[in-house]
Amino acid sequence: MSLRRRLVWSATALLVLIAIAFAGVVLAQRSYLIGQLDDRLASFTGNPKVLISIANRAELGTAAAGDLLSDSYVGVQRADGRLRTVLAPQSHPQLEPVLLGNEVGAGAVTRLAAGDPGTRIRLVEVPLATRALVIGLPMDGVDAAVQRLIMALVIAWLAVAGVAVLVGYWLNRLGLAPIAELTHAADQVTASGGRDLVQVAPGDPSTEAGRLAAAFNQMTAATASGQEQLRRFVADASHELRTPLTTLRGYSSLYAQGGLATDEQVADAMARINAEATRMGGIVDDLLELTTLGDGAALALRPVDLSALLGGLAADLRVREPGREVVVDCPSAVSVRADADRLSQALTALITNAVKYSADGTPIGLVVAPGDHEVRITVVDRGVGIAADELPRVFDRFYRVRRTSSARGSGLGLAIVAAIVTAHQGRYGVESQPGMGSRFWIALPKA
Ligand SMILES: Nc1ncnc2c1ncn2[C@@H]1O[C@H](COP(=O)(O)OP(=O)(O)OP(=O)(O)O)[C@@H](O)[C@H]1O
Ligand SMILES: [Mg+2]
Repeated sequence: MSLRRRLVWSATALLVLIAIAFAGVVLAQRSYLIGQLDDRLASFTGNPKVLISIANRAELGTAAAGDLLSDSYVGVQRADGRLRTVLAPQSHPQLEPVLLGNEVGAGAVTRLAAGDPGTRIRLVEVPLATRALVIGLPMDGVDAAVQRLIMALVIAWLAVAGVAVLVGYWLNRLGLAPIAELTHAADQVTASGGRDLVQVAPGDPSTEAGRLAAAFNQMTAATASGQEQLRRFVADASHELRTPLTTLRGYSSLYAQGGLATDEQVADAMARINAEATRMGGIVDDLLELTTLGDGAALALRPVDLSALLGGLAADLRVREPGREVVVDCPSAVSVRADADRLSQALTALITNAVKYSADGTPIGLVVAPGDHEVRITVVDRGVGIAADELPRVFDRFYRVRRTSSARGSGLGLAIVAAIVTAHQGRYGVESQPGMGSRFWIALPKA
């Protein structure tokens, strides 16, 4: 059963229970008040002297019992059944009960008043020798009190019902309706396989439902953007792999059609095929690398001495680029908590870029700046630089700045750097000016 239905049922059951309890109160109060009347009647009937005195005075036709019984009805019923009123209460001078004939010995009973069905009278009929004496008390006091009580309880019940309706409306608006909407939205997400961006109306953030809606919106936004990234990634990867594949296919069909006549041409084609296959292999390796890093590859974290690491990288660079000045600016005994192989891989990618995107003979710097909690390592070049609008995208997968793309590359190098640094819980960034050079930096936690 839905929460909403359960709520409606319990509220209804509660209101019915309250109504039954109120009815019980009315019945109890009514029987208590009637009991009081009956007690008064019993005080007359229980006292034969009073009865006989009243009967005798009644016989004489005097209404002198008035001093005793100013609010009571007294009548005499003769053997022929006719009732003669001896005394009527001051408040009801015309009062006369409609007797049914079964009143003698029946105790206190309730009867209507003749000519006035609105008034009821509680009476006892006591048999005396040749006649019967009827003593009664009008019930309007009791009836009015019971009616007032009923009115009060009905008003109270309506108030409780009103409050229940208001609380129900409020609960529904703040809690149940948003949950129903969320359920519907979650169904939509399932139906679209997570591809569509499904959002719900943001509720009041101070309510559970509001916070749930916000969390849901964040989750669907993240899922949709993840899906979009995956889609773009697959498209980019296929695009990058298609270029070398096209080359391979071109050479093989050229060969099949006898287009490669001389040994020289065949050797040249083979060399190109080999180069493209190597490039493809590199892309596939890089992609696998990114996937492993993204899946949280285990890092062998330990203190890595930066001057030793950078010294080694600089020595390699000097061998590869003898024409360049390689400057290492690193205070001694600075260590970071890192996986040495991964860190060296990331720095190598930055150094390779610095070489690739700067002219031969320009200097390259490796600068270490220790901070309070982290250490920043910057690779500085005096190369082509990057325009400000391209800067935010250079760490994206497959992103290459078009003007510099005469140099070969797949655009995965910096994406791998970013993934490695992120896996270390570090930060990375770049400052660059076109024509002046770039400063790529990574910051890792101090050891
Ligand atoms: N030091 C730099 N100076 C100028 N531009 C740079 C520098 N480093 C990177 N870039 C620009 O950022 C782009 C992305 O770099 P990234 O290393 O990711 O790819 P790549 O070098 O083109 O290819 P890969 O590294 O995968 O072989 C490069 O294509 C280049 O345009
Ligand atoms: Mg690169």
